[in-house]
Amino acid sequence: MTPYSRQNINREDINSVVKILKSDFLTQGPIVEKFEKRFKKFVKAKFAISANSASSALHLACLAIGVKKGDIVWTVPNTFAASANCAINCGAKIDFIDIDELTFNLSVKNLEKKLKKTKKKNLPKLIIPVHLGGQATEQKKIWELSKKYKFKILEDASHSIGSKHFGEKVGSCKWSDITVFSFHPVKIITTAEGGIATTNNLDYAKKMEMFRTNGITKEKKDFINKDNLGPWYYEQQNLGFNYRMNEISAALGLSQIKRLNFFLTTRNSLAKIYRRELKEPFFRLQKILKHNYSSYHLVLVQFNLSKFRYSYKTIFEKLRKKNFYVNLHYMPLHTNPFFIKRGFRKNQFPISEKYGKCTLSLPVYPGLQKKKVFEVCKLLKSFIK
Ligand SMILES: Cc1ncc(COP(=O)(O)O)c(C=O)c1O
Repeated sequence: MTPYSRQNINREDINSVVKILKSDFLTQGPIVEKFEKRFKKFVKAKFAISANSASSALHLACLAIGVKKGDIVWTVPNTFAASANCAINCGAKIDFIDIDELTFNLSVKNLEKKLKKTKKKNLPKLIIPVHLGGQATEQKKIWELSKKYKFKILEDASHSIGSKHFGEKVGSCKWSDITVFSFHPVKIITTAEGGIATTNNLDYAKKMEMFRTNGITKEKKDFINKDNLGPWYYEQQNLGFNYRMNEISAALGLSQIKRLNFFLTTRNSLAKIYRRELKEPFFRLQKILKHNYSSYHLVLVQFNLSKFRYSYKTIFEKLRKKNFYVNLHYMPLHTNPFFIKRGFRKNQFPISEKYGKCTLSLPVYPGLQKKKVFEVCKLLKSFIK
């Protein structure tokens, strides 16, 4: 089976995990801290707060920003549920901005239009752009709009470890308040389950740390109760969760990050083959803007279905039958029953919906043989009329 993506595990990864299993700490300890330090150095952010998934980290970020009941949060429809759930779980109302036809990311034009026509009281507190497949959204432009319309920005960079925007690493938070990454096995590096939030804001960092530890702080200088009660004393100051990363995951992450450069260059070189092989007018690959470097978590291809012998569904099934485990990232979120029940309807975000009817994620990961890439391209071309 050739999946669309998978983890790359070597002997050093295995040894580093085994070492932890033989050590004193299994849950959060010194290796988690080391991993956070390594990661924040890599993206050049002041703080990195790890979590047991990107879904958890997104929730922590919304809590830290202060998203609450009655707030409005906007994201895109072609994303994973977690990009919206994080805000809904804080009591906020979600709305969507349609994507750009070529980059498949949030369309800044649509965003600007929506901001202009929205009454002041209904403007979003937070916008969550998603860097689809590893390509950064137009962060610089969104940042400029955030100053005018006074919203915060949480980048969902689950796909984008190592991606760049105008030479700046995604996660530096130069044009956002908080950025979140995922370490799920299909992503660029893995910790099995895991995620991380980066920020340059000390207050957000502290809040995320507290919320991931059941709302508890052990920082003496932050205690509300100033009586010196004893060395056992800690304080629960908020309602929180156990969203902590464990030592086993952090050790795997530390070992994986050493090969990050190799992962990125391999993914990029495989993507190049797809670009050479799959051409218009039959295929359209995600347009990567000149000022972006993509991690290529996904190679996204659209079919000009009028030029194919088969429907989208049949193409999908034929690929799977040949053991190419392609996938759709993503079915438009607002068309799920959960959102339909909340008043969203079909044809509301037409570009995302069209995207969901003709786009596939093709296999790309370190360890994938080039001959498999040629094989899948040949198969795809054989479906042309
Ligand atoms: C865009 C996006 N956001 C959030 C997540 C959630 O990541 P995790 O599985 O680490 O919770 C994913 C995972 O697939 C994702 O693709």
